[in-house]
Amino acid sequence: MSDQITLVEVGPRDGLQNEKQTIPPDLKIDLINRLSQTGLSIIEAGAFVSPKWVPQMASTDEVMQKITRNPDISYPVLTPNLKGYEKAIDNKADHVAIFAAASQSFSKKNINATIEESLERFKPVLERAKADDVKVRGYVSCVLGCPYEGEIAIKDVIKVAKALYEMGCYEISLGDTIGVGTAGKTNQLMDAITKEIPAGAIAGHFHDTYGQSLANIHASLEHDIRTFDTSVSGLGGCPYAPGASGNVASEDVIYMLEGSGFKTGVNLDLMREISIWISQKLNRAPASKVTLAHQASCAI
Ligand code: HMG
Ligand code: MG
Repeated sequence: MSDQITLVEVGPRDGLQNEKQTIPPDLKIDLINRLSQTGLSIIEAGAFVSPKWVPQMASTDEVMQKITRNPDISYPVLTPNLKGYEKAIDNKADHVAIFAAASQSFSKKNINATIEESLERFKPVLERAKADDVKVRGYVSCVLGCPYEGEIAIKDVIKVAKALYEMGCYEISLGDTIGVGTAGKTNQLMDAITKEIPAGAIAGHFHDTYGQSLANIHASLEHDIRTFDTSVSGLGGCPYAPGASGNVASEDVIYMLEGSGFKTGVNLDLMREISIWISQKLNRAPASKVTLAHQASCAI
């Protein structure tokens, strides 16, 4: 199996969507332009969602218009419905993501639709995207637990993931939205789901609330999963998942993978510099242990 790993940098979207302070578009643009220098091939740039639901993403149009696009990098945006998709196309997106959940309660809270209604809502998005030659990624939230329902059955995750895959999503990103998963549970999920969907079409999206993300990525690797969503400096959280912390830090994942013989193609030094820079801008310490350890060793 390949030692090449694709990292999907979700910092500018998942990382910033839950910030209490309003992030000026220029800072998001600066962040994306810096990330574009690191060797990443996919940087999630924002979300065309309702500004009433997620105010922080309201500037995604300006961000998409002003970033310096590297032709080797894809800049996907979240589109929960046709309205969002049309805005994405107006702003020259060539890659979008739809997002469903394995939990009914989370689906209602996050996108105001049952799982079944959300799948119906996504159908016209996929039809339009196919006609426009736009790639569509599919997210499934709450794959290892829900903030409202607790445990989620693996069969419920597989049902939604398969529906998105069969509708035409090229990849399904499995979200541990509240970071409660463990390596054992990730192992069971990945074992079951790769019997239904090819491992090459699965990605892992682990939030690090309980500090289990690296272990969960390691468990996923055992099932030939080679794509992981990460966030510079461990930024992140979902407004509809109370208490959930950031995504696993990009620097920590690069350090673990490169140190284990995998290739990410992403420059760890540059990523650490961006981590320190964005943390200063947001007035906090980086959440990445690798960045903190490097800072401490430089100070000796
Ligand atoms: P709704 O209120 O049911 O929508 O929200 P509606 O169709 O009834 O429309 C209501 C108003 O919203 C209308 O405006 C629409 O025009 C507007 P009004 O007439 O009142 O002025 N509207 C929009 N505006 C901009 N862009 C749009 C759009 N659609 C409608 N696309 C809706 C339904 C899905 C829109 C809403 O619930 C929503 O935007 N939810 C997004 C929530 C979100 O972004 N959550 C975070 C991302 S998911 C996540 O973080 C998890 C993930 O990281 C994986 C993981 O960790 O598990 C991906
Ligand atoms: Mg997330």
